[in-house]
Amino acid sequence: MEEHEHLTVGRVAELAAVSVRTLHHYDEIGLVQPSTRTSAGYRAYSTGDVERLREVLAFRRLGFGLREIADLVDDPATDAVARLHRLRGLLVEQRDRSAAMVTAIDRELEERAMGIRTTPENQLKVFGAQLYEAIGSAYPATRRTEPRIAARIWEALGDARTVLNVGAGTGSYEPPNREVTAVEPSAVMRAQRPAGAAPCVAASAERLPFADQSFDAAMAVSTVHHWPDPIAGLREMRRVARRVVVFTYDASATGWLQRFWLTRDYLPEFADLLAGWPSLADMTRAIGGRAEPVLIPWDCADGFFEAHWRRPEAYLDEPVRRAVSVWTRVGPEAEQRAVGMLGADLASGRWAERNRDLLALDAAELGLRLLVA
Ligand SMILES: C[S@@+](CC[C@H](N)C(=O)[O-])C[C@H]1O[C@@H](n2cnc3c(N)ncnc32)[C@H](O)[C@@H]1O
Repeated sequence: MEEHEHLTVGRVAELAAVSVRTLHHYDEIGLVQPSTRTSAGYRAYSTGDVERLREVLAFRRLGFGLREIADLVDDPATDAVARLHRLRGLLVEQRDRSAAMVTAIDRELEERAMGIRTTPENQLKVFGAQLYEAIGSAYPATRRTEPRIAARIWEALGDARTVLNVGAGTGSYEPPNREVTAVEPSAVMRAQRPAGAAPCVAASAERLPFADQSFDAAMAVSTVHHWPDPIAGLREMRRVARRVVVFTYDASATGWLQRFWLTRDYLPEFADLLAGWPSLADMTRAIGGRAEPVLIPWDCADGFFEAHWRRPEAYLDEPVRRAVSVWTRVGPEAEQRAVGMLGADLASGRWAERNRDLLALDAAELGLRLLVA
């Protein structure tokens, strides 16, 4: 739509799949008012009106009440880009929550098939499901410190004495001999921290409950992709610490889907999870630092998504998959299809034929990066 163009109420209702009555109601309460007129004198929506309506409808779909929405879209402290980031974060959170609910319901179905009744507590918990509340208990089975990656992270921390570990989980990469404070929003993950682990605060990266520059360093490992607003979280790390170290993934390089045989040949749905993911340049800019590649050793001890690149049979193992959120987030259909195809290709020798060159490598570049500032 050109700047000078406008849309009639009927056309907007048709495009947005809402009733004309809804649009009239928004008009009456002053939420979205068509501010222009067609040549025939009918009231019409300008480009700006449509932009506002789009935001209102998206917040509505997220379950916000009309009064709350009015406060959000009229918030003088935010601009359109900041509001889009907030909206995106909320939608990602909703998607993950749905994935968590599917997992919880699948578990209940399995239990019922075995004649086990789910407790009332667990039935109700589904509604408050957060991804790591649903999948977190499967985490410690295969997720542990990989010493070669830990060495890189600890070296990057330099001489920091006080360290904040954001999205700390069970504390896999917390450095010894430093004063560590952990931040972790999931109660299930906090409960699995070993006895004697660093103290852990229930909070999220985007709102760190600490004063400016209150730590020598802040670190975040394999967590940024879970944050509803990664850039806000990285800026928070920058605010509270003098040094920032982040172990994350670069989805912005061209051809990244082709880089790893698992996403290339079996799980292209991985691309959907990373759509809209900030570029490496945006992430490094948010902390004011640089990015270094981290190669993954063939026998990586931490079972994250890419860890078994030279041990493909591992992906056929349910506990290996349950400890990696990607599999829950793509949904059971994609998971079953990918695992079925991989199993068949391993049995027929097709996987080995296609990926013969990998067997000669001791470490692989699969897009993992250490951001250091
Ligand atoms: C893959 S685990 C990584 C845990 C740990 N850093 C490690 O390396 O083992 C991701 C963690 O990020 C946490 N997380 C999710 N959303 C978060 C947020 N907004 N802020 C901070 N942490 C978050 C999850 O609860 C989960 O514990």
